[in-house]
Amino acid sequence: MLDFITQHRSIRRYKADPVPEALLTEILEAGIRASSSGNMQSYSIIITRDAALRQRLLEPHMQQRMVVEAPVLLTFCADFNRMRRWLAINEAADGFDNFMSFMVAAIDAVLVSQNVALAAEAHGLGICYMGSTLANGDQIGEILELPTAVFPVVGFSLGYPDESPNLRDRLPLDGLIHQETYQQYSDERIADIYRERETKGWKRYMSVPRLRKLVEESDVQNLAQLYSELKYSRESHQQFSQTVLTYLQKQGFMENGG
Ligand SMILES: Cc1cc2nc3c(=O)[nH]c(=O)nc-3n(C[C@H](O)[C@H](O)[C@H](O)COP(=O)(O)O)c2cc1C
Repeated sequence: MLDFITQHRSIRRYKADPVPEALLTEILEAGIRASSSGNMQSYSIIITRDAALRQRLLEPHMQQRMVVEAPVLLTFCADFNRMRRWLAINEAADGFDNFMSFMVAAIDAVLVSQNVALAAEAHGLGICYMGSTLANGDQIGEILELPTAVFPVVGFSLGYPDESPNLRDRLPLDGLIHQETYQQYSDERIADIYRERETKGWKRYMSVPRLRKLVEESDVQNLAQLYSELKYSRESHQQFSQTVLTYLQKQGFMENGG
């Protein structure tokens, strides 16, 4: 198992071979063994194989080709709809229409998604998460016909890999952990932790012609600036925040008693 975990790389190119139904079921059965808050399993997993539906999802997924090229797309949703229906049938009180409930359900959805991802990789399949699931969750939710109390949190493409990318670097472990309590970082320590990333990451982005062109047309000088000015700008993050907050309201997760 540790081999599979340590060999993980996101796969963005897939063979056309379908994922057999029985295999997918086995993977999902393993996935739902993930811990979940109160064992409520407040998530739903949407399996999208239909080509026409995936074509419609391409735009909100920001034109990422794997949406249409991988045979399967999995969308993991925070879901209190099912649980709340069960409560109603049993004349039980229902306090799951607030932000806390969303967080609980979102954590469940993320945990199950990673279990499914690992189970899939253990069977020789590849996955790649797509942040567009959350960022454009409102459009994706509409296409997937999500009812109230359901919200798309994470999603990934799934299929047989048609590429074998190198392992991506990670920040060094000792830069990520804190013994007993949080230890503040000095500037020197930050520089140490990010040193390798700064060179490797920059080289990697510069090797992609589209990104290189973007950088050359901007005044971005280093990887840190590339991250915060080109990849994840303040403006785009604020826009996506607004989208998420508005959709959370629409999906009934914002009755916060204020
Ligand atoms: C929540 C989340 C969203 C992501 N979104 C995207 C995405 O939209 N497109 C993409 O190509 N990769 C996406 N990734 C994959 C990351 O870029 C990838 O995990 C990271 O660069 C490390 O590479 P590795 O998974 O190959 O080790 C996402 C990963 C996560 C966890």
